[in-house]
Amino acid sequence: MKGYGEEILRMEDVCKVFDLGGGKMLTAADHVNISLHKGETLGIVGESGSGKSTLAKILTRLYSATGGRILFHGEDMVSLKGEELREGRKHIQMVFQDPSTAFDPKQRVKEIICEPLLNYGLIDKDDVEDKAKEMLRAVDLPEEFADRYPNNMSGGQRQRIAIARALVLKPEIIICDEATSALDMSVQKTVIELLHKLQAETRVAYFFICHDLALANMFCDNIVIMQHGKVVEKIHDLTEAKDPYSRKLLASVFTIEEGKNKVLPDELFG
Ligand SMILES: Nc1ncnc2c1ncn2[C@@H]1O[C@H](COP(=O)(O)OP(=O)(O)OP(=O)(O)O)[C@@H](O)[C@H]1O
Ligand SMILES: [Mg+2]
Repeated sequence: MKGYGEEILRMEDVCKVFDLGGGKMLTAADHVNISLHKGETLGIVGESGSGKSTLAKILTRLYSATGGRILFHGEDMVSLKGEELREGRKHIQMVFQDPSTAFDPKQRVKEIICEPLLNYGLIDKDDVEDKAKEMLRAVDLPEEFADRYPNNMSGGQRQRIAIARALVLKPEIIICDEATSALDMSVQKTVIELLHKLQAETRVAYFFICHDLALANMFCDNIVIMQHGKVVEKIHDLTEAKDPYSRKLLASVFTIEEGKNKVLPDELFG
């Protein structure tokens, strides 16, 4: 089994309460405590509405937390503002479920991939072509794709472009929110293999949000199970789940007693 390194991110009692109007409040994150280590793949599973995407959006600062702390290398991200916040955001990137809606159809692939670098003023316009080609190679796509538009590509290819863009700032964490869910099984497998390869090369850590419990169990080092905004339990292997809610969630996927034969990534991809 692969090892992973020091703690890079820690959520402490993170809360998010939405004001739904008319005096109604909804707690989408309820005192969440999660830590993530260098090179770790941490799965987040749970029923629809359990708060998985809310956590992802808090981490990428699309939502601000109502309470709690998010420590990145020991520094509280929640209090960052202005230039510090802009800098802090570089380290955590995201890949969404449906990249077709995330891309501007009028942009060429090279502009899409290098957009984060351009936004941060980290690349010369003249170097965009070369950098895009380098990133395309990293995600196993042909260099010629640099001049294409995202619409005339397959879902799997578009997701590779999204991964290339997420990687271009050399983040320490990539959040994959159902990033492979829209792909068919064989394409999903190749994208998972790519994520695995990129992690071996860069030691990036993943938050892997996923409806597919069997896939999460196979790909992730550890898994957090969520319900109603709370962490129910954190385990290494879903088949070891003890909490009644987790076991109910799993019963639809695994025969728990028979579930000892988890396929580790090394065996799967080796
Ligand atoms: N901007 C918002 N305003 C109000 N409520 C919201 C908002 N975003 C999410 N919620 C609510 O917060 C709860 C958690 O939503 P979230 O999207 O985090 O769930 P999820 O676990 O990602 O679900 P799914 O598996 O369906 O993607 C849900 O009840 C949702 O309706
Ligand atoms: Mg979601």
